[in-house]
Amino acid sequence: MSNKINSFEEYLSEYKKSVEDPESFWASKAEDFEWMKPWDKVLEWNFKEPKIEWFINGKLNITQNCLDRHLHSRGDQVAILWEPNDPKDNAISFTYSELYEQVCKTANMLKNNGAKKGDRICIYMPMIPELAIAVLACARIGAIHSVVFAGFSAKALADRIQDCDCNIVLTSDGAYRGAKSIALKKIVDDSLVTCPMIDTVIVLKRTGEPVTMEEGRDVWWHDEMKECSSDCTPTEMDAEDELFILYTSGSTGKPKGVVHTTGGYMVYTEYSFKNVFQYNEGDIYWCTADIGWITGHSYIIYGPLLSGATTLMFEGVPTWPDAGRFWDIVEKHNVNIFYTAPTAIRALQACGDEFVNGRDMNSLRVLGTVGEPINEEAWTWYNEKVGNKNCPIVDTWWQTETGGILISPLAGHTPLKPSYATLPLPGVQPLLVDNEGKEIEGNGVEGNLCMKFPWPSIIRTTYGDHERCRQTYFSTYENLYFTGDGCKRDENGLYRITGRVDDVINVSGHRLGTAEIEDAIDEYDNVVETAVVGYPHAIKGQGVYAYVICHSPDVDHDLMRQEILSKVTEIIGPIAKPDKIQFVTGLPKTRSGKIMRRILRKIAEGETDKLGDITTLLDPSVVEEIKSGALSN
Ligand code: WT7
Repeated sequence: MSNKINSFEEYLSEYKKSVEDPESFWASKAEDFEWMKPWDKVLEWNFKEPKIEWFINGKLNITQNCLDRHLHSRGDQVAILWEPNDPKDNAISFTYSELYEQVCKTANMLKNNGAKKGDRICIYMPMIPELAIAVLACARIGAIHSVVFAGFSAKALADRIQDCDCNIVLTSDGAYRGAKSIALKKIVDDSLVTCPMIDTVIVLKRTGEPVTMEEGRDVWWHDEMKECSSDCTPTEMDAEDELFILYTSGSTGKPKGVVHTTGGYMVYTEYSFKNVFQYNEGDIYWCTADIGWITGHSYIIYGPLLSGATTLMFEGVPTWPDAGRFWDIVEKHNVNIFYTAPTAIRALQACGDEFVNGRDMNSLRVLGTVGEPINEEAWTWYNEKVGNKNCPIVDTWWQTETGGILISPLAGHTPLKPSYATLPLPGVQPLLVDNEGKEIEGNGVEGNLCMKFPWPSIIRTTYGDHERCRQTYFSTYENLYFTGDGCKRDENGLYRITGRVDDVINVSGHRLGTAEIEDAIDEYDNVVETAVVGYPHAIKGQGVYAYVICHSPDVDHDLMRQEILSKVTEIIGPIAKPDKIQFVTGLPKTRSGKIMRRILRKIAEGETDKLGDITTLLDPSVVEEIKSGALSN
């Protein structure tokens, strides 16, 4: 495989080249792809506006590179291998030729329903092959996909549809998740009450449950596909034309639509995929993420398909029918590379070793983790029980905004250190700064993690609000991209991500803004004010701790807790439900009215003796009350 790094020494020399001359470095990677017209200039950028352009005036279609380009050499190789929710049902595979055909047909179906280049199409679907096909079909015709994780509520879906003004929604009647089935179409119906911009809803039949079809708006996927041809010329896209929007939470306001463009994203996801995981021809690669998150976009769909890999997609959950499901799938499909989240590892570890023991997992060669810091205990279990001490673990650090993995070992080459993401990929230039933005040089240090130079898949804007993009990522420290993460660099220069330094929390690898959860709880009638913080949680990594002030305090607290949970589920989705709700009569505020979250965090962590200086508070006595009512871990 070209451009694959084959040793640690080679990594060091590639890294050096990438920093000394980024433009020729990335041009040499981009040359491997099919371009309809070559680029005039590799890069123009400034982090001030910000304005970042890669492969300027280059024309391409990413699906031509995911599909057409492979037809000659690997048309009969499996591209997508799909494992259904129910282990009694058959797995289904699509070869590159079959996937090509399905994508073209689906692209024609979208066109027949009025989709055009530049339109935003919302995809709200379960983890079935048609989800991946729909994503690629949008890209085929130059429509911008906005995939919304199917665990989000009707309200959250409506917010995302409205924000980027979608005209089409793709969904299914229902979704299977373990023993449950979820009425997806009903959720779409509820959300569309406030989304007049939607002209068409295309509904795939998955569960067969009854749905209401609105005349003139809703059509069945299988009907629409019937007459579609499997010929669809890929639409010519500029390298900087938008490929997709993906919503993610920040420390303030509503989730923002992170925008990724075509050329740079293509080059970087392919390069990072094959190098981090050291993909070999014929390997079966499985990433357990949902396509509703960036991990699924970059490392279930685009990175693997661009590399000509076989990518496994799983519809179900790790604990159904039992906590051995992941390992059954590894055994059944001879998975060679397995990529999951620390929270899943901790949850399965807690179920007991009997679910791993006895499964033949000798096919495994590389293990990966993503989404949150991995603690040493989980790392050791993963290494010993899953990897049989035989598989390098790549702890991959990145973000929705980075598009691809930025800091990670290259499997088998980079020396590992548990809980360390280790070293930047070629082309990635991290630095640590103190709170004033001054660079912290040398090793054995800790600071705020920034990037000083763009890589090809860096965020370009936040949809419809470029100023928000500038403010959030490019204004905290001048001329730097700020990640929002804290980070250590050890004596040997290895990086360890320590977690968010802003008001973002990471619950089971899902990123949530504390402000967003507060707003949802505040919607509840009897709530005056709320403050939400994260606290260490054995399985989830972080749990959600909410301090709530009520209008009338003499209500049944258990009932009110239940109702707050349903409010959060209704407004955001079950993933954001608080684990703990403490009713209080006041919150610690400064004289200017700012909530002192530092204090609330310490109390939630159970470190009530380490609150620090509280004399600047408007009313220090509330702290005593909160401390005495704190819910133990
Ligand atoms: C945040 C980004 C990128 C895919 C999944 C999450 C945290 C991510 C790691 C890791 C420690 C990690 C960071 C980051 N994070 N990977 N290997 N070690 N922390 O994407 O939802 O955009 O969240 O997840 O805090 O900022 P996301």
